[in-house]
Amino acid sequence: MKLVTSLEEVLDQIWRNLSEAVGKKGHPFRYPVISTISRDKPLQRTVVLRSLFVTGRTLLFHTDNRSRKVSDLRVNPRLSWLFYDDSRRVQLHFESRCELHEPGSELYENEWNKLVPGERRIYCVKHAPGTPIVKPHQAWPEDILNSPLNEDDVAAGKENFCVITAELTKLDWLQLHPEGEHRALFHWKDDEWKGSWVCP
Ligand SMILES: Cc1cc2nc3c(=O)[nH]c(=O)nc-3n(C[C@H](O)[C@H](O)[C@H](O)COP(=O)(O)O)c2cc1C
Repeated sequence: MKLVTSLEEVLDQIWRNLSEAVGKKGHPFRYPVISTISRDKPLQRTVVLRSLFVTGRTLLFHTDNRSRKVSDLRVNPRLSWLFYDDSRRVQLHFESRCELHEPGSELYENEWNKLVPGERRIYCVKHAPGTPIVKPHQAWPEDILNSPLNEDDVAAGKENFCVITAELTKLDWLQLHPEGEHRALFHWKDDEWKGSWVCP
């Protein structure tokens, strides 16, 4: 992998690789780990990166509005992101501030409409993610367990669906390389990314 040596190139590479990941199942940047502050502890989980708006420096993912991450973000909207691509040996660590989008907004309706019934199914689990149950299948209403599903089968999931957008405020890029690791930081200031090199 070529060693990146200019800050402009780093930014270009970040947006290019994230854009690729949005459209490509299996791309390592498609499955970032996000962290919230949950009560007084950090809490991490994997999500699917669904969209990237480079000019708005915004990332988007879907979730269940009953989940812990949503209640965490209602208290503290700061969310950190971690991506690692082993083939490029690049780690991305971002800081962001989130906004929750609920029914009625154009963005919310568009995102729900993009999902096929099999993807909407997860929002039909009977109780909030993390609720104790005795047997694993008890998470689902009976009719949801019968495939194939159509739109009507999963319509009830819409009330649990939530779209989260995260406006990025800081980017931390690290590339591992046999010739030496390179690391760059970018802060959003005065309407632009201000970058600098730092020790890895
Ligand atoms: C590969 C992968 C992708 C996932 N994508 C999502 C996602 O896009 N949204 C989501 O809410 N949970 C997703 N999950 C499940 C979360 O990691 C997590 O277990 C769940 O959302 C409950 O998190 P919370 O209780 O911390 O809110 C995914 C899990 C895996 C393994």
